[in-house]
Amino acid sequence: MSSIPKNINAFTFFKEIFRSNFMFELIEERGEVFNLNLKPIGYFHFFANPSFVKHVMFDNKENYIKPPMFTKPFWDLVQEFGLPHTNDYKIWREDRTALKNYFDQASVKNFTAIFANNTQKWLAGLEEYMIQKKAINIGDFVSQLDIINFIDTLFGGARVDSSQIRKATDDFIDALTPDFETTLQFAGIPTLKGFRIKKIKTKIYTLADELIKQCLDSNNQNLIKILAEAYRHLNIDPKLIHKRLQGETIIFIIAGYPTTTTLSIWLLMYLSLYPKMADMISEEVIAICGNQSPTADHIEKLVFTRAAIQETLRMQPSVPFTSLQAIGDDAIGLHKIKKGDIIYIPIYHMQRLPQYWLNPAGFDPTRFLSPLSEQYKYIYMPFIAGPRACLGQHFAILETTVFIAMIAQRYRFSLTSISSLEIVKSIVNRLNKNVTMTVSLR
Ligand code: HEM
Repeated sequence: MSSIPKNINAFTFFKEIFRSNFMFELIEERGEVFNLNLKPIGYFHFFANPSFVKHVMFDNKENYIKPPMFTKPFWDLVQEFGLPHTNDYKIWREDRTALKNYFDQASVKNFTAIFANNTQKWLAGLEEYMIQKKAINIGDFVSQLDIINFIDTLFGGARVDSSQIRKATDDFIDALTPDFETTLQFAGIPTLKGFRIKKIKTKIYTLADELIKQCLDSNNQNLIKILAEAYRHLNIDPKLIHKRLQGETIIFIIAGYPTTTTLSIWLLMYLSLYPKMADMISEEVIAICGNQSPTADHIEKLVFTRAAIQETLRMQPSVPFTSLQAIGDDAIGLHKIKKGDIIYIPIYHMQRLPQYWLNPAGFDPTRFLSPLSEQYKYIYMPFIAGPRACLGQHFAILETTVFIAMIAQRYRFSLTSISSLEIVKSIVNRLNKNVTMTVSLR
């Protein structure tokens, strides 16, 4: 039975939004397209329909920008720094142009050996747990590897404490997740959350400054040096350069590591629950790579392994929703959109709607073995689509493929207890921090 409150305003919405069935119930009750007036934040259009999503992300994309709404506390704190997750398209375009080549599919392939080398060391570190049959806190372990991969490929191998990065990022994400206090902040009422965010901000900026310093001093190629060089060519005011580097460093920490860690953990979790799928990955990897570390050529041939990653991203997209804001009036058929309205796209829910997906709650990589039809482009979007799509998507898929392939060559991960599988819904779709697994030889 639906438990949707009769009058939904921003307060009730943010109280309910991370209750997993709330959005499903809303869609069931009101359809794939509906509106809500979420005062004091704004007028919202909910689109869980491919034609509507296509319209705002592709056909009339010039009319839609990133809204400050969900990220209001974040926005207030970082907007002055020209953070590229902004609706200031001049800044965003300059930064994205500078970094585009670094993240295209061909360049990212050059990271394969770094990922494989780090994964090898990481697996060696797990041997002791295997011998002693000790449980592993999987979130802690996987995040250590992701942070090292991330620092080695993007930040020139800087020496920073990965546990500090993890803690600061987790706190930051918790603080950014919209909730009841966020709504109060919109209404101009000071909250404890406001104070917490200020403290967290100091931590994350200190870490970013350390990374920037080391990157600028490093002989290795890295994101910061590329950006600094681009800013010089663009004659950006030197006083602004450091602020923009800080903004980019923070967006890469937040967008890059927790999302990939989330994907890897969910993947291990599904392979533990669906051992036949784990065996199929193992067979494929051994047939293609033997006992060697995967190379870029191998990776392309790991079709089933990639399908398992895509299916994990369908069931548990690391970013569960996205939003846009109209900068001018618009209409999709009879559906009118006014300047300033917010478009909310429930990625997680769209990817599980029974009208589009057979057996939506079942983990079935085979659905990705042949190309999806056109409409699925607009309902399967773990990296979103259009101009603001994830810059690191090839990076994330490659890193995760190397990770899972090297595990599948020798090891099996098993959940110690299914009861610990509580999902922490936030702006990143995380599993609870206490999930533990054991590792054994296949
Ligand atoms: C499984 C892993 C990942 C997933 C599912 C993911 C998903 C996403 C999504 C959905 C967005 C758009 C968010 C929004 O605007 O609402 C985004 C943006 C972004 N992601 Fe990722 N991401 C992943 C990994 C990465 C990695 C590894 C990097 C960097 C190495 C990265 C860098 C970025 C950046 C820079 C943006 C902002 C794009 C822009 O507005 O220009 N992401 N990501």
